[in-house]
Amino acid sequence: MLDQELELRTNFDVAKPSALRVRPRRLRRTENLRALVRETRVRVDDLIYPLFVVHGKNVRDEISAMPGVFHLSLDQLEREIAQVSELNLRAVILFGLPETKDEWGSEDYAERGIVQDAIRACKRVNPDLVVMTDVCLCQYTSHGHCGVVRDGQIDNDATLEYLARTAVSHAAAGADMVAPSAMMDGQVGAIRAALDAQGFGDVSILAYAAKFASAFYGPFREAADSPPKFGDRRQYQMDPANAREALREVELDIAQGADMVMIKPALPYLDILRQTRDAFNHPIAAYNVSGEYAMLKAAAQNGWIDERKATLELLTSIKRAGADLILTYHAKEFAEWSASR
Ligand code: PBG
Repeated sequence: MLDQELELRTNFDVAKPSALRVRPRRLRRTENLRALVRETRVRVDDLIYPLFVVHGKNVRDEISAMPGVFHLSLDQLEREIAQVSELNLRAVILFGLPETKDEWGSEDYAERGIVQDAIRACKRVNPDLVVMTDVCLCQYTSHGHCGVVRDGQIDNDATLEYLARTAVSHAAAGADMVAPSAMMDGQVGAIRAALDAQGFGDVSILAYAAKFASAFYGPFREAADSPPKFGDRRQYQMDPANAREALREVELDIAQGADMVMIKPALPYLDILRQTRDAFNHPIAAYNVSGEYAMLKAAAQNGWIDERKATLELLTSIKRAGADLILTYHAKEFAEWSASR
């Protein structure tokens, strides 16, 4: 009896308020205190907004698996760019859907291709907006692969010339940055050499350095009409299991002249973002891809999660893991929320 009483008293003494000197909760007491010690912030400046441009007039069709994301004809794109600029977003990345597809992806590098015209439209509305372009063949080829096909195989070295031509045509139309995403070996070096040779030494390269063969691109392939007609992309995109190889890819792209490197997708690869951040000093972008967006939207539409809080938490996790920049379909709504705060 006495022993028990003693023990109780001892425990009480240890837990006595005066004995507990370290209290992390002190700094969580009010929103102002929490804001003072907040380590990671997502800013409108960090976001890059992807846009899908199509031929035609007055087209603004919502992509079914990506609520809030649209196919835009050029007239609608101009309206969108005005809004995006009003919201102080600094950068967009353009994806185009061509009029016709062929084996060599001809519209990809056509002077009046959909993306080339879209770049000029963006610059007409806001010359200061950073206009980036995705450089890849998959939306433009009849077979839907990211490179040219020879004897049923994706021919790496033959593809480089097409990617370089595409990048140069985007630069000529006024793009500030090109982002090669085909995952062909040597694509960054080939594009850098071509840009420099054509007088576009100031156009920078955001390399999709570690791009994984991911199921989370599903909604994008509907949006961009780009699923491969045979096989899949695992002969060029990376195995989701490989982290060390991702670091090698980043290293190779930096050696070839990439100005910034990208990890894609974002959420299933936060560890890769952290390792890349620790190993390199280049700016790092993360692509918060279509499937990640679709999951969040679907849950929100069902009332299963708080959309705004969940979005902010996800974007924060991507920055905390080491990304400087985030390509995200949430960019516009995030900017709207920030403006209304
Ligand atoms: C083109 C490309 C893809 C994405 C960006 N560029 C699709 C793919 O590789 O199949 C995916 C973006 C997204 O899912 O949001 N190669």
